[in-house]
Amino acid sequence: MTGRLEGKVSIITGGGGAMPGAQAVLFASEGSSVCVTDVNIENANAVVERIKANGGKALSHQLDVRDQDEWDTLVQVAEKEFGPVDILCNNAGANFRVSFEEQSLEMWNQIIEIGLTGTFLGIKAVVPSMRKAGGGVILNMGSLASIRPGGGSPGYAAWKMGMIGLNRSAAGSFAKDNIRSVLISPGHVDTPFIRGNNPHSPNDWKTSIDNPENYNKRKGSTPLGRLQVPEDLAQAFLFAASSEASMITGSMITVDGGAAL
Ligand SMILES: NC(=O)c1ccc[n+]([C@@H]2O[C@H](COP(=O)([O-])OP(=O)(O)OC[C@H]3O[C@@H](n4cnc5c(N)ncnc54)[C@H](O)[C@@H]3O)[C@@H](O)[C@H]2O)c1
Repeated sequence: MTGRLEGKVSIITGGGGAMPGAQAVLFASEGSSVCVTDVNIENANAVVERIKANGGKALSHQLDVRDQDEWDTLVQVAEKEFGPVDILCNNAGANFRVSFEEQSLEMWNQIIEIGLTGTFLGIKAVVPSMRKAGGGVILNMGSLASIRPGGGSPGYAAWKMGMIGLNRSAAGSFAKDNIRSVLISPGHVDTPFIRGNNPHSPNDWKTSIDNPENYNKRKGSTPLGRLQVPEDLAQAFLFAASSEASMITGSMITVDGGAAL
């Protein structure tokens, strides 16, 4: 590894998940101290154990991104343990893969509150710490739905399109503080989000990529010929967090194997 994040302090939301966990492991291997946060603390703990086994620095912390007080506590813990925060990755999210008519207000609220409001709260909580650090990088998880939301799950479409506006608002607001904000949009990634049956992202045979029909449909619509793996995205997050991306802000990096073409 090349120490591209040597001495940096990162906060990763949804850190017990597949893509966020891969970010945490890669960032730690590049020299960052990493706060792995998740509403599911067992999964966050497992990621921290992996990092520590590799000789990296990390702590796990239970965080529901919807809770402003929990965000404030997390930033205090991060500063006490590692110092001011340099990097924030907003990954946590939910989806309910049902039609517009079937999506209840409860489902809509959950998607918007976790994905959009959670990102807003995270940026607000972390920016003062980034100012202490002399600058920082906010990385936001987009989607193909940030490019071309199709039919179904209106909450997901609104969240991921909303991320374009929120990302630009953060980039414009905090450029003067040497804080960048970048949206990174994956295509089809083989993770529990589209394979498993989780409370934040339920799947059944009709929607899961366990069903070969669904798997092959996603693969077939990816010109580079395979589903992505979490590490594909972690590399893009690393690039966007590093000084190599120092003039990139407010924009979107698409990492989708051509799926949005
Ligand atoms: N997998 C894909 O194909 C794909 C494609 C595009 C975008 N995404 C985005 O990637 C992110 C999901 O990552 P993944 O695919 O590795 O899935 P994942 O399910 O493995 O990870 C999501 C994590 O978010 C956590 N989480 C859920 N609600 C939370 C809350 N209220 N507070 C804190 N944490 C919470 C979960 O516990 C889980 O660990 C989402 O933003 C999703 O929109 C996924």
